[in-house]
Amino acid sequence: VFIRVLITVRLGLAIEKGGLKTRIGLPAEEAVLSALHAGYRHIDTAAAYGNEVSVGNAIRNSGIPRDQIFVTTKLRDADHGYESALAACELSLEKLGLDYVDLYLIHSPIPGPERRTESWRALQKLVHPWLSRPEIISFCESQHIAVEAYSPLSRGRRLEDPVLAKIANKYSKSPAQVLIRWSLQKGYVVLPKSSDKERIEQNADVFDFDLADGDMAVLDSLNEEFYSGMRHINLVLEML
Ligand code: A2P
Repeated sequence: VFIRVLITVRLGLAIEKGGLKTRIGLPAEEAVLSALHAGYRHIDTAAAYGNEVSVGNAIRNSGIPRDQIFVTTKLRDADHGYESALAACELSLEKLGLDYVDLYLIHSPIPGPERRTESWRALQKLVHPWLSRPEIISFCESQHIAVEAYSPLSRGRRLEDPVLAKIANKYSKSPAQVLIRWSLQKGYVVLPKSSDKERIEQNADVFDFDLADGDMAVLDSLNEEFYSGMRHINLVLEML
């Protein structure tokens, strides 16, 4: 860990000096490209290092498929808070020129618990819901650990999905009911959130139909195993 910190600080210093070749080392883009060509696959950057553009260029120019590289960036102390954390993550992605980072860390706890909690709410929002984590699920099943579906209705964001809509039509049920039924048939503890009386009733009305195996498989295939903004939110959680 110590060596990794030294390397990232070093890259940061290089670019903060405008990418000038100083005695500190190579400009960040060259340094990251060299690292990738030498076989490094975890690139650790941060908004505070000021080198996300260079790091992103190197990653995209390396010719190495994106999913083979683990990219970490971080929320600056100055960007703590709900809206500012959302905007900061989007800006980091834009600077990196990437669709997602593998890990988004809170850079330091300095801004204090209140603002940190606001940032944490923002980080949760950045998680993409169309995510069924089959590897974690099968591990849990092997250990007899009950799994709870988190945001089983995609927080309402993917209820218009055409594949889901087609299945819902077939069973004369709503997309939300199909998602709840899918979770139930998977054996998950399912907690759909609603503050609307009609929807609350609708979400409980899921015990008079069975999704056929074929339709379960189609719903399984919706999994994108992808978070917008970040993966491995669980790692971030551990670090808080
Ligand atoms: P509302 O509270 O107005 O009903 P999740 O459980 O995945 O976090 O999703 C919760 C979101 O889905 C809420 O915005 C909720 O809005 C919405 N929602 C809950 N039940 C339904 C439903 N049956 N049809 C459409 N949207 C629903």
